[in-house]
Amino acid sequence: MTMTLRCLARTAAAGLVAVAALATAGHTAEAEAADTLGSAAAGQGRYFGAAVAANHLGEADYAATLDREFTSATPENEMKWDATEPSRGTFTLAAADRVVDHARSRGMDVRGHTLVWHSQLPSWVGALGAADLRTAMNDHINGLMGHYKGQIHSWDVVNEAFQDGGSGARRSSPFQDRLGDGFIEEAFRTARAADPAARLCYNDYNTDGVNAKSNAVYAMVKDFKSRGVPIDCVGFQSHFNSASPVPADYRQNLQRFADLGVDVQITELDIEGSGSAQAANYTKVTDACLAVDRCTGITVWGVTDKYSWRSGGTPLLFDGDYRKKPAYDAVLTALGGSGDPGDPGDPGASCTAAYTRTADWGSGYNGQVTITAGDAPISSWTATVVLPSPQSVSSLWNGTPTWAGNVMTVSPSWNGTLAAGASTSFGFTVAKNGSGAAPTVGGCTAS
Ligand code: XIL
Repeated sequence: MTMTLRCLARTAAAGLVAVAALATAGHTAEAEAADTLGSAAAGQGRYFGAAVAANHLGEADYAATLDREFTSATPENEMKWDATEPSRGTFTLAAADRVVDHARSRGMDVRGHTLVWHSQLPSWVGALGAADLRTAMNDHINGLMGHYKGQIHSWDVVNEAFQDGGSGARRSSPFQDRLGDGFIEEAFRTARAADPAARLCYNDYNTDGVNAKSNAVYAMVKDFKSRGVPIDCVGFQSHFNSASPVPADYRQNLQRFADLGVDVQITELDIEGSGSAQAANYTKVTDACLAVDRCTGITVWGVTDKYSWRSGGTPLLFDGDYRKKPAYDAVLTALGGSGDPGDPGDPGASCTAAYTRTADWGSGYNGQVTITAGDAPISSWTATVVLPSPQSVSSLWNGTPTWAGNVMTVSPSWNGTLAAGASTSFGFTVAKNGSGAAPTVGGCTAS
């Protein structure tokens, strides 16, 4: 069994009031401008975006977080072929419209994602012969881009057309298999004519570092530029985890594409992990973009961990309760921003205490309490354990207990200092004296 309770340190809360009063009295426009991802990125001449799902816009915290922090929106699924043209010639754009309208009415840019992709493709497309498929592809591009003409900052015209692995070959798809390499060029030419104001991007994954796949994309972009095929940007999806970490040559790779005369964008960033390790990876990515003049913006692939396509890996900047994670602070700092402690939602010293029974042998058991710092570092903590009568504690380690009746208050022995998101634990042995009931653990207080 695991129980978790959350509390804000009393001393920290009192401090916040004082700081908030000061901030209200004397904060500058500059300080105010840099306390969200979007405003801090704007200070660097860049946008900061999120993938947005239409069906979450009605959730107040989701919309509030999106609206407060982000200056660009990418519909996560709503503009894909299966969503927009499920049968030939019938365009269903209500969900995509909801995202576009929400974003644009709040001054956000919109990235269009995506026109030609082998995935989330309705089966009727794959059933067409070459001539028909070419027409259907161009009709699809014209239909979508026409509907949103003038409203889309950048379009992912073609997504994921190259194979993974060492070959650098094109990926098999109805487009590749029936139309050959030329389908990409044709899609870009059609797209340019459909909405000349939109930036036209090629987007892919596992192209974030220098490797055979990114070399192949690089060669294509170079060829397009040399022959005047319209292309304005390359999107680097940047889905990272321990099996696919942030490449050491990420910045170098972005730079070599930029040197071809295209913008580069980080289009679907998410990095699995938590705490300071995740934060450090987010810093690397943000720093890499800032180091490349033509890296025009970063989009994270979702607003909150709970709706991420990889939610188990908690890869985003806000947790499931829309609290800012250490990764958030890292990105904001890398962008030159800083949190204003007077802001709602900004982290103060806090901690959680989670209890588990780690052993049980009939007459006794061992309990363990894991203390986890919230979104700010802490220098000390206390947690309370209420022991059911008539149990008694015979020993305790990695903590210092004081007793009031059956309430044990534990403070650190050596383990008071925790980085944001970091954990420690204390343990204790209990004599059941006839009762196997679980203790109540709570009241984690941090300073
Ligand atoms: C993902 C969405 O996040 C999921 O909701 C959906 O089920 C599958 O697609 N590359 C892309 C994105 O270009 O469109 C994908 O989005 C993630 C990988």
